[in-house]
Amino acid sequence: MNTLNKITLLQFRNYGAATYAFNAPVTCITGLNGSGKTNLLDAVYYLCYTKSYFSAYQQNSVQNGTDGFRLEGIFNDRGRAETISCKWKQGKKEIMADGQEYERLTDHIGKYAAVMIAPDDMELINDGSELRRKWVDSILGQVDREYLERLMQYQRVLLQRNAWLKLQAQKPTGDSAELEFYDEKLADDGAYIYEKRRVFIRRFLPILQDFYHRLSGGREQVTAVYESDLEKNTLAILLKQGLEHDMRLQRTLRGIHKDDWDFVLNELSLKQFGSQGQKKSFLFALKLAQYAYLSAEQGHLPILLLDDIFEKLDQNRMEALLAIIKGPEFGQVILTDTHPERIRQAFGADAEIEFIHL
Ligand SMILES: Nc1ncnc2c1ncn2[C@@H]1O[C@H](COP(=O)(O)OP(=O)(O)OP(=O)(O)O)[C@@H](O)[C@H]1O
Ligand SMILES: [Mg+2]
Repeated sequence: MNTLNKITLLQFRNYGAATYAFNAPVTCITGLNGSGKTNLLDAVYYLCYTKSYFSAYQQNSVQNGTDGFRLEGIFNDRGRAETISCKWKQGKKEIMADGQEYERLTDHIGKYAAVMIAPDDMELINDGSELRRKWVDSILGQVDREYLERLMQYQRVLLQRNAWLKLQAQKPTGDSAELEFYDEKLADDGAYIYEKRRVFIRRFLPILQDFYHRLSGGREQVTAVYESDLEKNTLAILLKQGLEHDMRLQRTLRGIHKDDWDFVLNELSLKQFGSQGQKKSFLFALKLAQYAYLSAEQGHLPILLLDDIFEKLDQNRMEALLAIIKGPEFGQVILTDTHPERIRQAFGADAEIEFIHL
């Protein structure tokens, strides 16, 4: 099990300078709306992944009126204490482990895993494919270094290929050597990523289905179907076949950057036909399965971060969720709630919970 035992925040969001200790298996952060509960959870997430869960703009995490932030966490990695610090100043990021700067940021990714469940996560089901790709990539990227590196390379080359297509539309050079170079790289990395995503969904699905049934108590059949252009042909051939079309639209229309996962309930699209409750159960099942998958792949238990979720759950689902996360296959839990009594009651009088009142 990996745990975070202490965190220090400097000029992070609404925090000027603050330190909090996490001593119990479950920590509940309470406080009024706007008191910084979500920000504190996000700081924990940041230390694990060197980015915010909620905001793509790092600048947003800097306390207004200052020019940078610093986070420090004392983690416990199977009995060994390690201090991780993240400093962000005017666009420059520095991550250190026990005072040593990492050579590459990717060396840190996957060391301390966390799974966040937050109110807006329903987007994962309701929104377009990009969020689902990002979600799968974030899981695979932290258990497979080569996946992360190839994915970053694929995205870089894709931008270059698209730039080439644009340029050809303006003043055709007829030079195809550059294009061939890009296509070869995309095909190679694309094949790797496709194969990893295929294996992933095969392993992930039974875990997802199990959690869905435990959460909903229902008998509905749920599944997630991986959809990719590469099912039909290799990317090398698809790129060749699609070149004319790509030239016209000045971007690359086929490849693993178009992949999606279709969430299905009783053979119908969950997004279009699922009820609110079914979607909620599915979302929680996705996240719990993500947790179980990561812990199996990495060999230790991630930190579970729950933002305000008891606000949204009915009694049955809440009890089912609690029964799951109290089990031995879950480790440290940090959650937020405006009502400490509700959490105390939900976990039971004898549960080991510590409260942080903001
Ligand atoms: N960059 C920033 N600099 C300073 N203050 C910030 C920054 N970003 C957010 N805040 C402040 O942080 C507060 C919001 O914190 P947060 O979202 O963590 O609250 P919360 O306790 O989770 O609230 P709720 O119960 O409503 O979810 C707001 O008051 C907001 O103004
Ligand atoms: Mg909040």
